[in-house]
Amino acid sequence: QQKRKEHKLNIYETLEKACLYYRQQLSQSSVALHYLREKRGLSPEIINKFSLGYTPAGFNNLQQAFPDYPTNKLLLDAGLVVVNDNNKRYDRFRERVIFPIRNIKGEIIGFGGRIIAKGEPKYLNSPETELFNKSHELYGLYEAKKEIRDLNQVFVVEGYMDVIALNQYGINNVVATMGTAATEEHIKTMFRFCDNICYSFDGDNAGKKAAWRALERSIGLVTDIKSVNFLFLPEEHDPDSYIRENGTDAFKNLANNHSTGLITFLLNQLLEEVNIATDEGKARLISLVKPYTEQIKAIALQVILKKQLATMVDLDPSVVESILNNRSRFA
Ligand code: CTP
Ligand code: MN
Ligand code: MN
Ligand code: MN
Ligand code: MN
Repeated sequence: QQKRKEHKLNIYETLEKACLYYRQQLSQSSVALHYLREKRGLSPEIINKFSLGYTPAGFNNLQQAFPDYPTNKLLLDAGLVVVNDNNKRYDRFRERVIFPIRNIKGEIIGFGGRIIAKGEPKYLNSPETELFNKSHELYGLYEAKKEIRDLNQVFVVEGYMDVIALNQYGINNVVATMGTAATEEHIKTMFRFCDNICYSFDGDNAGKKAAWRALERSIGLVTDIKSVNFLFLPEEHDPDSYIRENGTDAFKNLANNHSTGLITFLLNQLLEEVNIATDEGKARLISLVKPYTEQIKAIALQVILKKQLATMVDLDPSVVESILNNRSRFA
């Protein structure tokens, strides 16, 4: 146990050292600085706040920071170095802008890397390690947690650059799921800090799907106090591009005045699967809504959902209620 703890401490140290190296490389790379400053519009302050770095082209750059590179096992355990079929070691991150990923205590647990020349994949992340599990971690939480508490709200976005751009525009209560769907663990973590989660995913189809997944995973966790809502951006935008093009006030206006509540999103989405003009469509809508009503623990929300459903299917709320409860002579 003691040994395991020590081993983890050594991995933290290794990641910290790599981070320093990446930051130093950024300060020396006009290409990477140009990318972040000019192409992505980031200020030196924001680059520092998120400890952004760079790793140049080349397969063994980390050797400069780790003279024992060929034998250092921690580099493998930290996910920084990969071994090929011929037992040769090489750097996982090459010619990429580096985003250090911190845990809630501020310790570095992994990295994301974005390509700046041509090539695939656009983003590469640390593998799962003893310290890093993507489905637990929220990028930016360490930097955002005070603001999340103070404002009693968190914006959840998809990407590193969304977090960073919103910060640069003065919106600091932001975290990212790093491309994966929000997990139950993510949601519980955020609800420890605030009462409202606002999902702000990309406007494209993938973002819409992520929003629906987020709804499905949130619905059993919301209460009459803990709420979620959804900010849908124009098709061609993500939070980064949106705020850059339209500014802070436009983003805040969207968030405050044009976000969609859980019930509204749920009903609108399910409505798309039926022809509500027909009797069969109405019946189908009720059966589609049923599994969701059962999951909602928020009493008031449940009543509101049933009332809105009743209006849509043009039935008495008490009849809808008894159909949903499966104990109706009408069912
Ligand atoms: N992502 C990933 N691997 C990929 C693509 C995406 O891990 N191949 C994750 C990254 O965390 C990324 C997030 O998903 O930040 C959102 O992806 P995407 O919308 O494609 O990227 P953007 O953040 O918009 O990238 P950029 O603005 O830099 O082009
Ligand atoms: Mn965890
Ligand atoms: Mn996307
Ligand atoms: Mn983007
Ligand atoms: Mn995006």
